Amino acid sequence: VTQTGATVVFCDTDPQTYTIDPARIEAKVTSRTVGVIPVHLYGQPADMPAVMAIAEKHGLWVIEDCAQAHLARCDGRMVGSFGIAASYSFYPGKNLGAMGDAGAITTSHAGLAERMAMFARHGGLTKGDHQIEGVNSRLDGLQAAILSVKLRHLPRWTERASSSPRTTARRSPASPASRHRASHRDARRCGTSTSSSTHAATRSRAPRQRGIQTVVNYPVALPFLPAYRRFGHRPEDFPVAYARSRASFRCRSSQR
Ligand SMILES: Cc1ncc(COP(=O)(O)O)c(C=O)c1O
Repeated sequence: VTQTGATVVFCDTDPQTYTIDPARIEAKVTSRTVGVIPVHLYGQPADMPAVMAIAEKHGLWVIEDCAQAHLARCDGRMVGSFGIAASYSFYPGKNLGAMGDAGAITTSHAGLAERMAMFARHGGLTKGDHQIEGVNSRLDGLQAAILSVKLRHLPRWTERASSSPRTTARRSPASPASRHRASHRDARRCGTSTSSSTHAATRSRAPRQRGIQTVVNYPVALPFLPAYRRFGHRPEDFPVAYARSRASFRCRSSQR
């Protein structure tokens, strides 16, 4: 967002689902707002009907961050199909992971598809014909080949991971009936908001003895990262994200 020259404005999350809280979006909208980027965190779809209704009311575009949510569904509809575009990560730890860095953007908007393809290829679709300034963000052919094979298995893997009892644990993000999550990480809240209890839980031997690695995930919520120090965010500006970031950890038993 910042690199396009725009200003990033964060919005707090819903305490049950850990995704953007639609009730807090409108208070952030000004005459300078152009779009909303909901993140389907831990494979849990954001409340897309509510996000889309607000976006339509204010004439905003929506780009869905599907990095952790390949094949998740909201109201029976695949995430990534609500907004004007969606981004996917194929980082090795993702549900559809390559053997190195990789990712994709999708859109059903033909003009945007062409422009995004151009931008990712130094601004030109054919060699030597650079219509715009762009970057080098091509998907490596080797990674694409690996992903093509893994893609065939993704529905089965997703179903298996999402129906495992772990994901229904009380301290995991809640999954409303209309939202079918694509489990990504088994995220559990542990301890309270003190860092010492979080670390104690992370060090706990129980999961490790069963071959499950645990780590503190997102120890600092985005608004509080040094990169955004210039905004002077306070904990009370994002109370849910602030509290969750100090009490969350993730478990994962195996890498696909
Ligand atoms: C929610 C979310 N958005 C964006 C990204 C960035 O993806 P990548 O690392 O492939 O650029 C990630 C993963 O790191 C992510 O989990």
